[in-house]
Amino acid sequence: MIELARMETVATREEQATLAFSVNGRPVTYRGSPLQRLSHVLRDDLGLIGTKVGCDAGDCGACTVLLNGEPVCACLVAAGQAQGQQITTVEGLSQDSTGARLQQSFLVHGAAQCGACTPGMLVAATALLLRNPSPNETEVMDAIGGVLCRCTGYRKIIAAILDPGAASGADQAPEAGAAVGRRLVRLDGKRKIEGTEIFGADETPAGALALRVVRCPHHRARFRIAGLPEFCAQHPGIHAVFTAKDIPGRNCYGVIPRFADQPVFAENEARFRGEAVAAVVGDVDAVSAWDPADFPVSWDELPPLMEIDAALLPDANRVHANRPDNVLVRGRVVCGDVEKALREADVVVSGEYETGFVEHAYIEPEAGFARRVGDQIEIQACTQSPYMDRSDIAAILGIVPELVRIIPTAVGGGFGSKLDLSVQPFLAIAAWHLNQPVRMVYSRVESIVSTTKRHPARMKLRAGCTRDGKLLALDFAADFNTGAYSSWGPTVAARVPVHASGPYRVPHYRALTRAVHTHIVPAGAFRGFGVPQAAIAQEQLYDDLANAVGMDRLEFRILNALDDDTPTVTGQVLGEGVGIRACLEALRPHWKAARQRVAQFNSTAAGPLRRGVGVAGMWYGCGNTSLPNPSTVRVGLKQDGRIALHQGAVDIGQGSNTIVTQICADALGAPIERFDLISGDTAVTPDCGKTSASRQTFVTGKAAHMAGTQLRSKILELAHACSCAKIEFADGKVIVEEKGKARNLPLSTLPLDEYGYVITSEATFDPPTSPLDENGQGVPYAVYGFGAHMAEIEVDTELGTIRVLKVTAAHDVGRAINPTLIEGQIEGGVAQGLGMALMEEFFPGKGENLHDYLIPSAGDIPPIESILIEDPSSIGPFGAKGIGEQAVIPTAPAILNALHDATGIRLRKTPATPDRVRAAILAACDGGPRG
Ligand code: FES
Ligand code: FES
Repeated sequence: MIELARMETVATREEQATLAFSVNGRPVTYRGSPLQRLSHVLRDDLGLIGTKVGCDAGDCGACTVLLNGEPVCACLVAAGQAQGQQITTVEGLSQDSTGARLQQSFLVHGAAQCGACTPGMLVAATALLLRNPSPNETEVMDAIGGVLCRCTGYRKIIAAILDPGAASGADQAPEAGAAVGRRLVRLDGKRKIEGTEIFGADETPAGALALRVVRCPHHRARFRIAGLPEFCAQHPGIHAVFTAKDIPGRNCYGVIPRFADQPVFAENEARFRGEAVAAVVGDVDAVSAWDPADFPVSWDELPPLMEIDAALLPDANRVHANRPDNVLVRGRVVCGDVEKALREADVVVSGEYETGFVEHAYIEPEAGFARRVGDQIEIQACTQSPYMDRSDIAAILGIVPELVRIIPTAVGGGFGSKLDLSVQPFLAIAAWHLNQPVRMVYSRVESIVSTTKRHPARMKLRAGCTRDGKLLALDFAADFNTGAYSSWGPTVAARVPVHASGPYRVPHYRALTRAVHTHIVPAGAFRGFGVPQAAIAQEQLYDDLANAVGMDRLEFRILNALDDDTPTVTGQVLGEGVGIRACLEALRPHWKAARQRVAQFNSTAAGPLRRGVGVAGMWYGCGNTSLPNPSTVRVGLKQDGRIALHQGAVDIGQGSNTIVTQICADALGAPIERFDLISGDTAVTPDCGKTSASRQTFVTGKAAHMAGTQLRSKILELAHACSCAKIEFADGKVIVEEKGKARNLPLSTLPLDEYGYVITSEATFDPPTSPLDENGQGVPYAVYGFGAHMAEIEVDTELGTIRVLKVTAAHDVGRAINPTLIEGQIEGGVAQGLGMALMEEFFPGKGENLHDYLIPSAGDIPPIESILIEDPSSIGPFGAKGIGEQAVIPTAPAILNALHDATGIRLRKTPATPDRVRAAILAACDGGPRG
């Protein structure tokens, strides 16, 4: 049995004690087990939810508090150890000027994105500043080295700590019509730095029962559950057990309805380790104390398919009976004549590349609660896709979607995985049957074993060019291990062939993909939908081509860069906003300087250290591939003169709450501080689609632009004024000024509409795309983002270790709505790309925690220089394009190209862990196969 229980159950609750200590300067008394974790005492008993729990194992640092001034992981401190001690949590930081100034600095520097790590970061940094008011960068990195952040890439956190008095550099209140382009402090930032943001685990309704899921401990197993009445009778406090038999509607869900195949509870056979088979619900203490090994289930382990090759064997068992060859779906984009072009090319290179599973490792594990409200079910949980959740929950409960209300909590990082259901169906079923609130929080282990991963890819390529470096052809074939259920496998298989050319003109092209089922936790969406994997292969191969024709690797890319008028591999001519050439050219001076530095270092280095520099380009279509993905935004003018912005784009840390408001404010011509933001809630915000595919700035931003523009028109219409008139928003009135004459529109006397506003405007935007034909030709995306990264690295050829010295990242964002937030996305993307390149690999069944699964910590991240290119899209709001996924794509190939530059080895399998790098270096020395 997988031990998925929260770790506090280790502490017996039989032993009770009364403990007295001080928290944030106030004396408190706690009566309970002295073995209880301090983190849980603070949160559950004292209500100080600012202290976050990301792992309960001392790995993430989210629970960092000060114990007599020293930072400690509160999850590793027993309550008894706090007796007589002084505790400071994030809620107490502002009592001291050092903490208060640091909190302000985090806001100004944009150091908090999702905010899940922010309390721990602030506490750890405050401890440093209290003992050393002027630390250097190394001291800062050491101080926060034990606190993981998955969003920011740490650079803005470091900057904030080095500059704790920062009060400038951010715009708090730009004038009306001047919000776009400004470094506005994120509108939800204060809650994040104060620790008052409500994440999935932070609210417990009165009388809530607890729920724990029974999961399969084997990769594949038949199972039998028997004796549930006896089980419940033997466990006082456990109210009910739910299995597949208890699902009122359909025991099946999936993010793409046509491919939906995942059961809430497996029936008879579990297809992956961690799959749910039952849920146990009851009083909190009873459920916490319950040992999952007691559950009356018997397992009959079956041989699993773990690898793509095994799954594709002709006699392989089918993971799903209706999917021949274990192929979920195929993708295809073909143009020109690849074979002929490769025959005629002056130079042809080929390569095979492999990438592994990557875990999302957001700091907030999945959590939430559900309750029945009359005939409705209401779910508050972390999610990236409230309306999709609503549809699936309705089908599972067998009710209409209007009876399901999804209220997203703050999301402590998502990166794609929180697009899929996690806690929601279990909570909904239990609350529906029991008519009582039910709450659950995934443990870190449970989060890792049961939620989606980045698809491992196995890729085979050939590319050819002329002797003067003009790309002629690319032949790309890739298989993706999509795991046991479809999740986003079809999207990965469809998106990769469109993008595998890179942002270059490739006249002859063939890209074929397959998503292959295995008995592994489903692979799903992860920042880039397979494109980062493809870029690892394609960008390394293009380096080989450049080297083969003796061209500078950056100039090779500039020579072949797409232009406004050159067709993409799907035959699309974008006609505008193709900023890849500008990105690559912006890197030119940095490239030349870095190459000189590297050459100089290598010419004088006597030891095992070698340096290298690499570059890689990217492009990425914003929004769904050739499918509708509309967003609808509503704006209402209130009687008191304030403006309600209903925008349902879930802010998972990337900043959509702020960006969408900036766009709407300027379209309307109102100051930001006039806005009241109403964020995602299916009962009160229209559908803004999912937060994925780099679509919220572009799609929801455009809808907000349209809604703001329409509201302005309606106000002018009411005032009988022309479109050039100026509108001023004031308390209880609007003043319209035209040709030097001002006219007051008192709002309190105007009737209210169905939404309760004086005037409401609502607008929908769906990006114009077209279906792709059988060869993948057509218009898959209305707008693409472009970018290029350059990495300088140092390799220890004896140890196989790689240190990234600097990343320079140029991105065409169309229009930088908020440069601070965009830089934050770039830096966070670079950090995830670095992790993918050098350290991150999930092995199913092993290392299901943040101790063994390594993500970059502060000390791993080099200086990152962001260069923002603004080649606008006439479709995007104020010209803006997406940036979220774009930022992660080029980092790993740039680092791997730098590795080749430094050592001459071409690693075929990522991540480039020291053992692989060292083995490749040794093999190269022996003249054997490399990588
Ligand atoms: S929750 Fe304490 S270190 Fe992760
Ligand atoms: S802001 Fe650090 S984990 Fe999200």
